[in-house]
Amino acid sequence: MAIMTMLDGVFGAIAGVFMKLMSVVLSLMVSAGSMAAAPATDDPIKATDEENVQLIVEVLADTQLNAFNTNSAYLDLAMQDYQNAETDLEGLLILGDVTENSLECEWNRISEIFNANGFDDTLLLATGNHDIRLRDMEQIKDRFYGLQNEFTVVEPEGELNYSYELNGYTFIVMGSDTSEMEEANIGDEQLAWLDATMSEATADGKPVFVILHQVLANTHGLPYTWGNGSNKTAGSVGEDSDAIYNVLNKYENVILLTGHLHTGFGQYTYETLGDNGNITSINFPGLGKDCIQGIEGYGQGAIMEVYEDQVIIRARDVSNGAYYGAEYDLTIDLK
Ligand SMILES: [Fe+2]
Repeated sequence: MAIMTMLDGVFGAIAGVFMKLMSVVLSLMVSAGSMAAAPATDDPIKATDEENVQLIVEVLADTQLNAFNTNSAYLDLAMQDYQNAETDLEGLLILGDVTENSLECEWNRISEIFNANGFDDTLLLATGNHDIRLRDMEQIKDRFYGLQNEFTVVEPEGELNYSYELNGYTFIVMGSDTSEMEEANIGDEQLAWLDATMSEATADGKPVFVILHQVLANTHGLPYTWGNGSNKTAGSVGEDSDAIYNVLNKYENVILLTGHLHTGFGQYTYETLGDNGNITSINFPGLGKDCIQGIEGYGQGAIMEVYEDQVIIRARDVSNGAYYGAEYDLTIDLK
C-alpha cells in the first residue's frame, strides 16, 4: 500500500483540525486587510466579441488547495470573480494539482467553495503530481472522480484520462496511468486513445484542446523554470514526452493546456510547437502558488474564448477581478 494511503487516516485527522484553524486565520487576515474579501467588479470577465464567441471558459492550474495553509482563499475569490462575469462563462478547467496533498478534506473543501459560490457549469479537472503521489490508484480515482462527477459526469477512458465535448469542441484530459512522484506515466494504451480521439475531434477542422498537467520536455523555459532539475526531463511530463509530442504533431490546431511550473504570465507562458506551428502550448500560472519568473504572486488565472477562426487567451488576476492587459494575452489564428 502506498505511504500516503497508509497514513491517510492520521494525516486526514490532523488536516481537519488545521483546516478549521486556517479558516480562523483567514478571517483574521481579511479583517486586518491583508487579504481581499472580494474581487473588484469594475473590470468583469467579458468576451472580446460577445456576438461571435462559440465557447468561453475559465482556465486555472495548480489550485493546490492545502489544508495546512490559507491558499483556499484564492479559489474562493476566483469563484466570486467567475460569478461576477458579464459574459456568462460555460465552464471551468483546472489543469491538475487540484489539491496539495490529495487529502479527502482538501477535495471536500473545493466542493464547498464551488457550492458556496453557486457554481453549476461544466467542470473539467485533470490530475497533477500532487493529486496522485504516494497514493494507491483506487484512492486517487475515488477522490478525483468524486469531485469531478459531482459537477460534470465524465466517462474514464483509462485510469485518469477522459474526453469531454463542450459546445462541439473536444477537450482531452490526460492523466498518469500510475502513481508517480513528479512526472506522468502515459502508456501505449493512453497514447493510442489520444491519437484516436484527436483524429475524431479534428476531422471537421475544429481545434482540439489537450489538457496535460506537465509541459513537454525542453519547453516553457525548462530546465531554468523548474530550478532544481537534475535530469534532462525535470519539470516536464517525463520520458513519455516525445511519444506524446509525436501524436500531437499529427494534427492541426492543437491547443495544449498545461500547468505545473508555477511561472507567472510572461515570457514562458506561450510557445508554438510542431512541424508547421500546429501546436500552441500554453503554460498557465498556479492559482494557489506564489508564482515567479513573470507576473509574481498568487491568484492568476485565464479566460479562454473560442471563435470560428481564433482562440484567445486572456490573462486575468482572478483574485482581484481584473485583466492583466493585452501584453499578457495570446490570439491563436486557426488554420
Ligand atoms: Fe503544482
